[in-house]
Amino acid sequence: MDSVKTVCVIGLGYIGLPTAALLANNGYIVHGVDINQNAVDIINQGKIHIVEPELDKFVYQAVKSGKLKADTKPCQADVFIIAVPTPFHHNSKDIPTPNLDYVMSATKSIIPYIKDGNIIILESTSPIGTTQSIENLLSKNQVDTTKIYISHCPERVLPGYIMKELVQNDRIVGGTTKEATEKTALFYKTFVKGEVLKTDAKTAEMSKLVENSFRDVNIAFANELSMICDKFDIDVWELIKLANKHPRVNILTPGCGVGGHCIAVDPWFICSSAPENSNLIKTARLVNDSKPKYVISKVKEKIKDIKNPKIACLGLAFKPDIDDLRESPAVLITEELSQIPNSQIYAVEPNIKSLPKQLNKDNIHLTSLDIALKDCDVIVALVKHKEFIGIKSNKIMDFVNL
Ligand SMILES: NC(=O)c1ccc[n+]([C@@H]2O[C@H](COP(=O)([O-])OP(=O)(O)OC[C@H]3O[C@@H](n4cnc5c(N)ncnc54)[C@H](O)[C@@H]3O)[C@@H](O)[C@H]2O)c1
Repeated sequence: MDSVKTVCVIGLGYIGLPTAALLANNGYIVHGVDINQNAVDIINQGKIHIVEPELDKFVYQAVKSGKLKADTKPCQADVFIIAVPTPFHHNSKDIPTPNLDYVMSATKSIIPYIKDGNIIILESTSPIGTTQSIENLLSKNQVDTTKIYISHCPERVLPGYIMKELVQNDRIVGGTTKEATEKTALFYKTFVKGEVLKTDAKTAEMSKLVENSFRDVNIAFANELSMICDKFDIDVWELIKLANKHPRVNILTPGCGVGGHCIAVDPWFICSSAPENSNLIKTARLVNDSKPKYVISKVKEKIKDIKNPKIACLGLAFKPDIDDLRESPAVLITEELSQIPNSQIYAVEPNIKSLPKQLNKDNIHLTSLDIALKDCDVIVALVKHKEFIGIKSNKIMDFVNL
């Protein structure tokens, strides 16, 4: 797209930095913005402040070529991309509510730099109507929104494969007007090899939320089955294997809960805006959130006659073979088990070097698998890391089918 030469990316985290570096490597002049001065300084040295394969090379090349610069303040550009966090409020409400403070503050920060013809793209996973709220906020602040193009383009990359998936994945683009959709889609087509699919802003927002809710609901079904099977002493893994032989059945894998910053968060965005119509999605969230409590109760039952129980917790990450502990049910379970009087917890997590703050307690030790297997009264398998697959011990409580 010849008319676009400069891009300003707001938020240089797991999504914004790879996007900024990719755009710079595709010839755009990119101004990256983050409120974290430390991140800005590291990026300007051509280095990275987050862990993601291949990203270091992309950032180094982008900075060295002079095409990527980071700053704490935005500047004028042809395209603005907003990639800031969209968590939910940890309040006591029945349904957690989305926290759009970061999106709105990022939007406010670009107001002085917007000029006619600009394309403004929200990439953050957002509740339905957020793109329109951005337009409303700009209008209220004397930006003539009939002369700019505002769209949503949700991000669906898998951490660990971001640099590849940013290019290869199909993208959904939805503008607040047809012209915005067209202009935004043309921009993505300049660096995306996957299909660029056009819709409106609300449908684009909903598509991302629906993708993650689909996963959550299906995992909840598997987790619920695992608890029902326990009651009847049926091996859930064998059951699922058999049921999946049906040509139109594909039951997912149960675990110790659902974690991470996407699947455990995004379904709430649907529930909070349509509480009367989202019973299934809400119930799935509750089922998945109940699984860690179930695991804890099973372990407590098992060790009830042991005076000074030594419990091994295998895995802390929110899914196999990564170091990401955000919203991880395994961390929550480990923390709760450490509150059992006189317990010693042996946490085995091959992907980290030190325990997170939450688990910094006298009776929790980060240890090797061998020591845990040898010394503990009970071995609780929480994450199916490759290092744990196939281990044998009559002390194992296996919640992940090792
Ligand atoms: N990480 C993923 O795998 C992934 C995948 C798909 C979608 N998403 C979505 O993308 C969005 C961003 O996620 P992320 O993982 O990149 O988050 P992140 O926390 O890694 O990065 C966000 C960055 O934005 C910065 N920031 C916050 N407010 C700002 C502001 N007003 N101005 C400038 N910078 C600001 C933060 O300092 C941080 O560096 C979220 O909505 C998330 O749900 C993430």
